Amino acid sequence: MPSPNLESPLDYLSPDAHLAGAAAQEHAELDAGLRARHACISPKFLYDPLGSRLFEAICELPEYYPTRTEAAIFARHGAEIASTIGTGATLIDLGAGNCAKAASLFPLLRPAQYVPVDISADFLQDAVARLRLRFGHIEMNAVGMDFSTSSWQLPEFVRSGRRLFFYPGSSIGNFAPDEARAFLRRVHAQCGEDGGILIGIDLAKPAAVLDPAYDDALGVTAAFNLNVLRHVNRLLDADFDIRAWRHRGFYNEAEGRVEMHLEAARTQQVSWRGGSRRFEAGEWIHTENSYKYRRGDAIRLLEESGFATSAVWTDPQGWFAVIHARARPAH
Ligand code: AVI
Repeated sequence: MPSPNLESPLDYLSPDAHLAGAAAQEHAELDAGLRARHACISPKFLYDPLGSRLFEAICELPEYYPTRTEAAIFARHGAEIASTIGTGATLIDLGAGNCAKAASLFPLLRPAQYVPVDISADFLQDAVARLRLRFGHIEMNAVGMDFSTSSWQLPEFVRSGRRLFFYPGSSIGNFAPDEARAFLRRVHAQCGEDGGILIGIDLAKPAAVLDPAYDDALGVTAAFNLNVLRHVNRLLDADFDIRAWRHRGFYNEAEGRVEMHLEAARTQQVSWRGGSRRFEAGEWIHTENSYKYRRGDAIRLLEESGFATSAVWTDPQGWFAVIHARARPAH
């Protein structure tokens, strides 16, 4: 296990994030998805450097309510959140991206150590380099890691005292409920004594709000979704013609989730290293689910994963919930 390298903005890159074995695993995963009867691409492939920037742009859109609604909850209830949680914890920011959300809480939570974790290591590196200039007094150790796998583990240099996992933005919604439970159990196992989680969860609401949030007028979400094909072209030497695909994003009420797909605008043959497939006009590739929880289901999800909810904060419309939950001791 490498010790933290204070010269470098990235202190730890998990072995599976950069070894040849990882590339082979990614290849196998993408290949299987593209060959499946209902083709799919894991949403983690949405986040190459351009995808991460497009996601930042989505967060600025008037239609995309989760970011500003969550921010308003933090702005309104920040002091109460801090007094519920206490200061001086090790703040572990899962899917940190540009680290802006956690950084806005530093003055309230005053973490002893900040550990941003993200699969997009290049993007994280830039963000942490900037953050170190502003918050030189906080120990920061950046981790490049894919924590969507079933075996992710924090490096040893993460302090074992009181750990607060920070998982905002309703990223939990991008897991199917079973996967979400497995993921939260893994978080629970690494909470240590007196640890917990501060999590943002998007709540169920009418399709009239959800549909435009995932299919905006400017087409930023469309670009974000289509960019996954550019990423796949790079990773697999594939020849997807981006112009031959259309973005689809809508609420599937029966499943309780927003779905994103790419629809073939014409019949086409697509080839990649080791495979090829004919897509008929109108055929879809499923790229993302975004589950929307009812408040009680969100609390149940945390409880079934080993946590006890200590407080729930929502916006006046009840669109989004920020939940603090303490890790119950494992038996
Ligand atoms: C990162 N995640 C919580 C976003 C969501 O709302 O599910 C990703 C996203 N997909 C389309 N727009 C935003």
